[in-house]
Amino acid sequence: MKRTDQEIHATGRSPDASEAYEELDIDETAEPSEHSLDASAYAQPRKFRIAVFASGSGSNFQAIVDAVKRRELDVEVALLVCDKPQAKVVQRAYAAGVAAFTFRPKEYASREDYEAEILRVLEEQEIDLVVLAGYMRLITRVLLGPYEGRIINIHPALLPAFPGVDGIGDAFRYGVKVTGVTVHYVDDGMDTGPIIAQEPVRIEPDDTLETLAAKIHAVEHRLYPQVIRQISEGRVRLEGRRVVFE
Ligand code: GRF
Repeated sequence: MKRTDQEIHATGRSPDASEAYEELDIDETAEPSEHSLDASAYAQPRKFRIAVFASGSGSNFQAIVDAVKRRELDVEVALLVCDKPQAKVVQRAYAAGVAAFTFRPKEYASREDYEAEILRVLEEQEIDLVVLAGYMRLITRVLLGPYEGRIINIHPALLPAFPGVDGIGDAFRYGVKVTGVTVHYVDDGMDTGPIIAQEPVRIEPDDTLETLAAKIHAVEHRLYPQVIRQISEGRVRLEGRRVVFE
């Protein structure tokens, strides 16, 4: 395996920033002073740990990180998984101090092979929930098995209408008057898993594809952190295909 691109980079540091850290003068042999407190005095309950999977811009990743910063969402964004090492979302992860696992699918013999690698990292990082946010790949049984009922996705249309890679454009061109956003559990189909939450967005006569996309993204950025919060609080349950809130 080629380590360079697959490494989980140290949180908050891009590789280029390493020199700046070398200037810090820390005496690692120093004894703790009599005033230092045992860290366990501050022990916090374990946080719900999420991994965000993304392939591109990462505006949803950012919305989740920002919701955590504003304390509207009490989870640990522990990991970004990205299949495009050059994607903007990777820079967002560095800036936010989130560890990034990047890989190039072409370097693996099969989807199952790279998912086995991802699974190893998810387990190592004790990830509770996988949050797909613009991750442009189908998920196989390699991840769906161990993470059954713990992988969610956001889709920019009201499923089951307009599944696939261009939900916004497909709805706009079809001419529907109402589209929206869906958050759903992931199964082995394309956008077919049980629906957790949906919010409608009206398409007005003067909307363009661009204004519609902006409205959809604004709803996504509010809805996804809300749903993650409800799941992390243990308030979401699956009954067959129906999702029930407690
Ligand atoms: C979002 O519209 C999401 O619904 C879809 O992919 C897009 C990702 O956008 N699955 P971003 O990378 O979060 O900005």
